[in-house]
Amino acid sequence: MKTYRIATIPGDGIGKEVVPAGAQVLEALAKTTKSFAFEFENFDWGGDYYRKHGVMMPADGLDAIRDKDAILFGSAGDPDIPDHITLWGLRLKICQGFDQYANVRPTRILPGIDGPLKRCKPEDLNWVIVRENSEGEYSGVGGRVHQGHPLEAATDVSILTRAGVERIMRFAFRLAQSRPRKLLTVITKSNAQRHAMVMWDEIALEVSKEFPDVKWDKELVDASTARMINRPATLDTIVATNLHADILSDLAAALAGSLGIAPTGNIDPERRFPSMFEPIHGSAFDIMGKGLANPVGTFWSVVMLLEHLGEVDAAKRVMQAVEAVTADKSLHTGDLGGTATTAQVTAAVCAFIERAAVPAANAA
Ligand code: IPM
Ligand code: MG
Repeated sequence: MKTYRIATIPGDGIGKEVVPAGAQVLEALAKTTKSFAFEFENFDWGGDYYRKHGVMMPADGLDAIRDKDAILFGSAGDPDIPDHITLWGLRLKICQGFDQYANVRPTRILPGIDGPLKRCKPEDLNWVIVRENSEGEYSGVGGRVHQGHPLEAATDVSILTRAGVERIMRFAFRLAQSRPRKLLTVITKSNAQRHAMVMWDEIALEVSKEFPDVKWDKELVDASTARMINRPATLDTIVATNLHADILSDLAAALAGSLGIAPTGNIDPERRFPSMFEPIHGSAFDIMGKGLANPVGTFWSVVMLLEHLGEVDAAKRVMQAVEAVTADKSLHTGDLGGTATTAQVTAAVCAFIERAAVPAANAA
């Protein structure tokens, strides 16, 4: 039997509620099979750790999780600590430290969920956004001088490298190729940004030649927001720079019904380091500690984690359980207009996984 070693990092706010729920679902899944088990190690990094130690995670923190098979992350963000410190001190430190350069964000309208678009049928919206996760607008390069003086100046330099763009384009084309429609939209802004985005477009064209069976097009980022709303069915796989995809993925999640549902994977496709899976929602301080957080974003992230481990069948079983639960409106949390609690949704998903496994166990 294979034992997968999983690092759990709940982080801040509702991350502390949804990550244990995600671990609970993995435990329930493990009980239904003899082929794998999980060994969890929890790390209390985040805002509270910062208050005690002055840093979001220890200096040698990456070494503690380097050998894990995957990381399940909650969220980073604290009302009393500047957002750029919580972000750069923990989540980006892991993403960049482990070169998780492909951020993958699937979006679908799950059963039982009402999206806000009145003309969009559930089957019209089935996207995966691939976010460049290592450079671009999040390069961290820039500076600030003459603070407080009239001639104060500040820069955030967006850097794109040929190596960085080639690898994310290749990843996106390959992902598009693996999906039934074999359709990729490359998001750009090369009309206004005439250096790096022009290189981005050129590299997209070069890489496309390696994937003759993938149909692809280019869309300006501003136009793509209108297209997502007016013609959602014309999109399938989407690749964009770090910031463009950050913005588009919030829009995508909202169009699919709620930010509380959306998952993401920070992937090192070369598997040199563990990849990290997390719900896309933030720490949500307004509802933290009340047991009201929607754990579905974490459960879907768990599905991505299982797929990454190669446990495709198990991933399908968890997704079926999640969809059975979203289909039942009495199990909707507040973000979906319901009154269910995190614990109720979690128990329902675990129960479904256990129930669904019984016939298979009998057959074996
Ligand atoms: C996301 C989030 C983060 C980001 C925030 C928390 C800094 O919005 O994962 O999309 O911008 O990367
Ligand atoms: Mg975002």
